[in-house]
Amino acid sequence: MVNLETKYLGLTLKNPLIVGSSGLTTTPIQIKRLEEAQTGAIVLKSIFEEEIAHEFEHTIAKEVQGHESFEYYDYFDYKIKEQNLEKYANVIHIAKNETDIPVIASINAVSPKEWASFAIKLEEAGADALEINAFLLPSKIEQTSQEIEQLYFDIIQNVLKYIKIPIALKIGTYFSALANTIEKFANTGIKGIVLFNRTFNPDIDIDDLKLIPSKIFSSEYEYLLPLRWIALMSGRIKIDLSASTGIHSDTEVIKMLLAGAKTTQVVSALYKHGPFYIEKMLDGLIAWMENKNFSTIDEFRGLANNSKVYDPAFLERIQFMKYFGDREDII
Ligand SMILES: Cc1cc2nc3c(=O)[nH]c(=O)nc-3n(C[C@H](O)[C@H](O)[C@H](O)COP(=O)(O)O)c2cc1C
Repeated sequence: MVNLETKYLGLTLKNPLIVGSSGLTTTPIQIKRLEEAQTGAIVLKSIFEEEIAHEFEHTIAKEVQGHESFEYYDYFDYKIKEQNLEKYANVIHIAKNETDIPVIASINAVSPKEWASFAIKLEEAGADALEINAFLLPSKIEQTSQEIEQLYFDIIQNVLKYIKIPIALKIGTYFSALANTIEKFANTGIKGIVLFNRTFNPDIDIDDLKLIPSKIFSSEYEYLLPLRWIALMSGRIKIDLSASTGIHSDTEVIKMLLAGAKTTQVVSALYKHGPFYIEKMLDGLIAWMENKNFSTIDEFRGLANNSKVYDPAFLERIQFMKYFGDREDII
């Protein structure tokens, strides 16, 4: 009998399949359906401070035109934030009352002070944990890597100070010394890191000569980047790693667990196949475990990570200098 129970951020999940932050986790109805599909946990769609600011500019700002007083603007700014937070908190509240699924809230704010105030509100609403969706594009020429990293540390410290629920940090790959930075994040007091967020990238239409959005969904081979970094880091840091990007079937779930991930987050595949695809992925994971005679995930988690593989240098190799085909014996 296979047992898929998984500890992540100190929470007990019935399995390691999480539905990642996206439009799939916005309403209580969606969350109930994901619970029926046997999902281990969900990360709610992020609440974006920028989105709230945008709403302020496009609706309320018109109403307050002509009013010189900053207090007047501040009042409406505050009101929109409150209303949006209230709506978000209400989803958490309903999900916690009507389902047993662990709910991880997600925030994406711009100004350091807002991260804390948003986090407090979501903890009060009953969220089991908080994912900080922090992705800063290091595009300013005058900004150094230390300055950018400091922003992440300020955000983490600011949130840690005010809430008690466990925190995971979801990051991208834009760090000049990724291993060192992940290690420093792991020592701040957070409980997990999600590798990696997948950002929107602009594309160019060569017929119309204009910028266009690129594909918002990942493709199957994108799992290789998080796979390498989870394998490189999972044996070297003490907090949980959650894999995100390019997990399209049970095969990638198994690979991420072998690399040492505690959980795996799925988004694009569910947009493609619907919420009950989770069950199919779980069936595949169970069948593979039975075939290999594993009864718990801990029996095989991390077998392909940096500290366990026969040849760790294989994980470090980045040039195609040699033919890789004969390397079948690395685990
Ligand atoms: C439509 C859509 C909306 C998303 N919204 C969020 C979000 O609000 N917050 C967040 O942290 N990630 C968001 N993501 C990123 C996903 O959580 C995930 O990290 C990314 O899609 C890679 O996983 P995948 O390959 O399984 O799609 C979104 C992705 C998609 C496709």
